[in-house]
Order: sequence, then structure tokens, then C-alpha cells
Amino acid sequence: MQEKKQEKIELEEQIKRKMTHIKHRIAVMSGKGGVGKSTVTALLAVHFARQGRLVGILDADFLGPSIPKLFGLERKKPLSSIDGLEPVLTSKYAIRVMSLQFMTPEGIAVVWRGPMITKVLEDFVAHTSWGNLDYLIVDMPPGTGDVPITVLQDIPLDGTIMVATPHDLTASIVERAINMARTMDTEVLGIVENMSYYRCPECGRIARFGSSTSLLARKYGLKVIASIPLEEDLARYCDAGIVEEYKTDYFEGSEL
Ligand SMILES: Nc1ncnc2c1ncn2[C@@H]1O[C@H](COP(=O)(O)OP(=O)(O)OP(=O)(O)O)[C@@H](O)[C@H]1O
Ligand SMILES: [Mg+2]
Repeated sequence: MQEKKQEKIELEEQIKRKMTHIKHRIAVMSGKGGVGKSTVTALLAVHFARQGRLVGILDADFLGPSIPKLFGLERKKPLSSIDGLEPVLTSKYAIRVMSLQFMTPEGIAVVWRGPMITKVLEDFVAHTSWGNLDYLIVDMPPGTGDVPITVLQDIPLDGTIMVATPHDLTASIVERAINMARTMDTEVLGIVENMSYYRCPECGRIARFGSSTSLLARKYGLKVIASIPLEEDLARYCDAGIVEEYKTDYFEGSEL
């Protein structure tokens, strides 16, 4: 028991040491599933990389990893060096990606309970050779369970970005995630509203959906960092694994 505790303390210290080489650490979360956390993570990473920053992505969604697919890296394997596991580099901007998907056979689900996931996640962060980075972006799984708790606890974050869609149901779940982050002394940097509006490709008319995100932002004194439309092209680029080629930068002009 004592030994286990010591091992955990050492792991946590190792994570903290690794993180000192990374200037900014941001987690993308929501609480709600399927709202676009992984897409926002990828777009944010590309935004920073286009500014010439060194960027890494930790895919912390062990049960439903999506980051390798978005960057067309599903068949890649990380190499190991004396510093640990080397992240896989994306083809265009050399974003350093680490995902459990690189270690699991295609199509096979990881069947683990919470304590196991927590342990592997900590091992994973501690033993990845991130090198010096300007930004590490963590793609969180849905929910407010073991993984978000572990990430908020173990990784010294600048803060979290909450992803919402303009629906009351989403807002009520994102609200819980905001409260969770604040309870764990983590700053909420702002909200990204995804699937905010739809621009008709034929007539150019913009259809806006609800206003639940701006109401939520006002209630918690948060800014809406970016609004991303529901767009066929974005989904196509993501599905094709070429999110780095997607032209529009929704974070341009944001104060991140
Ligand atoms: N703005 C958008 N326009 C069109 N399609 C989108 C948009 N945002 C996300 N999608 C699509 O919606 C699906 C879900 O997005 P994504 O995987 O990023 O959500 P998630 O919140 O990470 O989901 P999970 O909770 O499963 O991790 C994907 O197929 C993605 O390509
Ligand atoms: Mg995801």
C-alpha cells in the first residue's frame, strides 16, 4: 500500500517536471459528448502551429480516441527513446501527438475501469517525451469522470476551454463541467461554441441556432472565444484526416 502511494507520488512529480518544458497547457473539455471537443482541439492546435508555435496534443480520450484520425495518423506508432515515448508528428505542421490509439490494435476497444485508466493516463503523460513545447492541448473525453479529474489534478493547466453547442441541454451539462473545473481550482479560459450557425451554400443566408451559450457565458462571466459553424467541409476534412489543410481559422483574433 505504502509502496503504491510512493509510486503515485513519483509519477505525479515526474509529470510536473515534464510540464516545466511546456509554456502553456490547455485542456479542451465539455462534459457533453459529441459536441466537437476533438475537432476544436485539432483546430486550436493548427491555429497555434500556423503562428510558428511548437504544439503537442495529448489525446486523453482513451475509450474513444479521435485525434489520430483527424490528422491521418491511425497507422502510426510512437518510437521509444531514452527520454521515453516519442510523440507521432503530424505531416504538415509537425504537431506532436500522443494517443493510446497508437498502442492498441485497430478496432479494439480498451476495456478498463476507472483506477486502471487513471494509472495508465499518468504513466502515459509521465513517460512521453514532449520536449520543449509552446502549447500542449489535452483532448478530454466526454463526462466529468476519472480522466478529467486526473488531468485537472495532475497537469498544471493554464486553464480549460469549454466546448458547447447552442442547445439548452448542452448548456446544462457544460455548466457542470465549468463548476467542476472551478471546484478543482482550474481557470475556465472561455467557451467555444461549435455548430453555432449554418451558412446556406446556395443563398449565403446564415441560420443561427439558440442563444444558450451566450446566456451561459454571461452567467459565469466567461468570454465566447470562438463560434464555429456547422459546416460540411469541416466534417469532410476531419473525416479525410486532413484537418491541417482546412483553411478557416476560427481562433484568429481571439486572445488565446
Ligand atoms: N462544426 C462542425 N461542422 C460539421 N461537423 C462537425 C463540426 N464539429 C464537429 N463535427 C463532426 O461531429 C462529429 C463529432 O465531433 P468530435 O469528435 O470533435 O466531438 P467530441 O466532442 O470530441 O466527441 P466525443 O465526446 O465522442 O469525444 C465528428 O464527426 C466531427 O467531424
Ligand atoms: Mg472527442
